[in-house]
Amino acid sequence: MKRSHYCGQLRAEDATKKVCLQGWVNRRRDLGGLIFLDLRDREGMVQVVIEPGTAAFSTAEKVRSEYVLELSGVVRERPASQRSSRLATGGVEVLAENVTILAEAKTPPFLIDGSIDAREVNEDLRLSYRYLDLRRPEAAKPLRMRHQITKAIWDFLDAEGFTQVETPFLTLSTPEGARDYVVPSRVQAGHFYALPQSPQLFKQMLMMSGFDRYFQIARCFRDEDLRADRQPDFTQLDIEMSFVEEEDILSLNERLMQHVVKVALGVDIATPFQRLPYSEAMGRYGSDKPDLRFSLELEDISALFAHSTFRGFASALADKGVIKLLKVPAEYAKTISRKDVDKLEAHAKLYGAKAMAWFRCEAEGFNGPVVKFLSEAELTGLRSYAQEGDLLLLVADSWKKASTALGAVRLKLGQDLKLIDENVLRFLWVVDFPLLEYDEENARFTYMHHPFTRPQDADLDKLSSDPAAVKAHAYDLVLNGNEVGGGSIRIHRLDVQEKMFAALGFSPEEAKARFGFFLDALSYGAPPHGGIAWGLDRLVMLLSKSASIRDVIAFPKNQRGIDPLTGAPSKLEDKQLEELHLRIRAEAIAEHA
Ligand code: AMO
Repeated sequence: MKRSHYCGQLRAEDATKKVCLQGWVNRRRDLGGLIFLDLRDREGMVQVVIEPGTAAFSTAEKVRSEYVLELSGVVRERPASQRSSRLATGGVEVLAENVTILAEAKTPPFLIDGSIDAREVNEDLRLSYRYLDLRRPEAAKPLRMRHQITKAIWDFLDAEGFTQVETPFLTLSTPEGARDYVVPSRVQAGHFYALPQSPQLFKQMLMMSGFDRYFQIARCFRDEDLRADRQPDFTQLDIEMSFVEEEDILSLNERLMQHVVKVALGVDIATPFQRLPYSEAMGRYGSDKPDLRFSLELEDISALFAHSTFRGFASALADKGVIKLLKVPAEYAKTISRKDVDKLEAHAKLYGAKAMAWFRCEAEGFNGPVVKFLSEAELTGLRSYAQEGDLLLLVADSWKKASTALGAVRLKLGQDLKLIDENVLRFLWVVDFPLLEYDEENARFTYMHHPFTRPQDADLDKLSSDPAAVKAHAYDLVLNGNEVGGGSIRIHRLDVQEKMFAALGFSPEEAKARFGFFLDALSYGAPPHGGIAWGLDRLVMLLSKSASIRDVIAFPKNQRGIDPLTGAPSKLEDKQLEELHLRIRAEAIAEHA
């Protein structure tokens, strides 16, 4: 290599050294006969000076932003008055002797020289030219952190005796709850592969093979509605271990996370992480991924209203629902206007509440639209929850809806009132999830994680008699209100797996048709096993404080699942369709136009 140094690495101690640099022109300035260039490479930028009358000067005159140059020259310290604190190299500059243009460049479609905030540029435009966007050091940073995190994971798990194994992309559907992306088979007419939603079944079969400890940085594919923290193809750290109990997996993951955070941020995080049963997470924070960086909590005050004549409360209780309270203490409540309360109620409705009652606790009594409907006894009871100045927010509904809606209000208050310390990393485990969830739409029980999750032994009998009450050996890893991982101890006995399929409403034939190969594998002696998957993109997004998951992926899809750079997805040629035995319905295209 001709390059002697990276631009961004030069410092005062390099003064008088002769260097050869290669990189991009960030910006050129002509000043009083001198030409100044900021030359940029992956390590940063350095100022280059080209003096008139030199051979380099006539070349430098032709240079524009984003040209690729090779240049040689001598490093010199800048006079104290000309030092710049803007750049890490701001104490030095390079006096160029030779400048060669390696490639010319068109004017980029948006500024990438750091003079404007990238968020001001339309994101689709940035993604269409992602290779230019990534020239910005700020844009490249999360990808470099991602590399460090991946390496830290490899190092740690290798030292712990894990084997990395790759599993197929072209496979059968895995039930993770999203739609599959499918790939038509040319050779097997009319048949399709599914891209894996996760390596779930394969990693379990690797345990049955005796690998004992497996991991993979695995790509997963899910056709679901996209959000700021979701991509159609994303990456998991996938882990599986044999002969373990739940606690073994949690503690290994805590140590791994400790290592990862130390490598990525140089920060020590404390272990063990708090463990919160699902019922408590929902009950106290209204979320199965609560943000514990601030302390507002929900309470169940149903008992106060057992005999209420107020219809909103009475009907919820008659339907076996609850009345939940979120108390906003006076110091915050005083900044919340009537209009703000309306906005909070609208927010609660967005999350399923029919209404949100509010009560301001004032010296002379409660103020609020529902006060007149409550009895003296009820108001007295409510008063025991409040100090003067407090604002009480109440939602009456099913336990889940009331908790979820008030939980969303809690989170909004945390953000609006700036109660969240953005510099804190608050990890926790949510444990003891229900195994099954009632699916109102299809009027049957469905799995909460996936159908291979092991019921807690004490609840096994309830699988057929009271499915809603069965708890699972399932756990989610939460960071600052985001689900960064999830896993479980698996069913390792065929009879239990069959019971689980029965509880899910699969007939033995259906179970065999979909998962016959897996049931077969279970019948040949499976070790007790369990594991987890981390959402790697999400974790990197949070640790690098990126605004969106797209910032931590080199070539992401936009919110509509399109890759603006390549234009994918695209149409197929008629010939390809024919080879794949497919025909496109013209009316389907018209319907979606
Ligand atoms: P789960 O479905 O919870 O578990 O996924 C694990 C983690 O992956 C992340 N994640 C996503 N990240 C970005 N885009 C998406 N579309 C997306 N979907 C999920 C989340 C989530 O916590 N097989 C099980 C794991 C196991 O049981 O071992 C599984 O895939 O951070």
